[in-house]
Amino acid sequence: MVQVHRMFFHYSEFPLSMRTLFTGTLIVLGIGYLFAMIQIYSAHAGRDGKPGLSVEDIRIAYSGQKDATKLEGALMGPMSGMLPLNERGDVIGWVRRGLDEKEYEDRIRPIFDKRCIACHDGSNPHIPSLNGYHEVAEEAEIDTGMDLFTLVRVSHIHMFGLTFIFFIMGLIFSHAFFRPVWIKSVVIAAPFAAIVLDIASWYLTKLAPGLAWIVIASGALMGTSFAFQWVVSMYQIWFYKYSARERELDATTI
Ligand code: HEC
Repeated sequence: MVQVHRMFFHYSEFPLSMRTLFTGTLIVLGIGYLFAMIQIYSAHAGRDGKPGLSVEDIRIAYSGQKDATKLEGALMGPMSGMLPLNERGDVIGWVRRGLDEKEYEDRIRPIFDKRCIACHDGSNPHIPSLNGYHEVAEEAEIDTGMDLFTLVRVSHIHMFGLTFIFFIMGLIFSHAFFRPVWIKSVVIAAPFAAIVLDIASWYLTKLAPGLAWIVIASGALMGTSFAFQWVVSMYQIWFYKYSARERELDATTI
């Protein structure tokens, strides 16, 4: 039999146990990716007041908006399901009128107590406290977007986490038959470039809100590469026969 590269084995040359390992890994990574998409959607959709996820939503999430507050952004977006429309209108009206403290005690506090305090009582350091006038007023200041500390924290989590995911993904995909090999390498490299671009774009969007599209573009690049590697790997693990002819071709081109 022709020797391809010493390190190249097609899935069909691996024992069943390894193909099972690859398959299990792909399935759980795939489900994980779906949950990540749901998380992104629910955290950002609707911030601009319109349903669905848009470049505008991303811009607001990272760089804030000059004419609205974080509280309003949350009430229109991720927290919109927490209270009925009329109460939401009451709260937003109160914010726009200038955060009157007496009105807060009379009309607004009961809404927060009933709808928000269960989670926003100040006991969880990652969720802003809405327990009292000053706490609420702080959230109702002009929205400057995600703060630098949060960005730095999420950056390192993303860099470490995604590198693991795409290393495992690329390692599995590297055993697929795919030519030309340079395209295969581009597919493997793309998500790593996208990770760096994605994280850089969070900071860039904070400085120049017009760059929010880069966040979306790099996310799309990452997702496309993930989907591509997933489908090709899964298909070839179970259904693809690596022929003697392909083996011969690979022996000369890899
Ligand atoms: C079931 C729990 C829960 C309830 C009820 C809830 N929230 Fe939240 N809220 C959260 C969590 C969790 C976060 C943090 C989410 C994140 O950072 O992505 C959050 C974040 C926020 C933020 C910060 C958003 C930002 O962009 O930093 C605001 C403002 C907020 N909520 C307002 C409210 C208001 C107003 C209510 C009541 C109408 C409410 N929440 C009810 C769980 C809740």
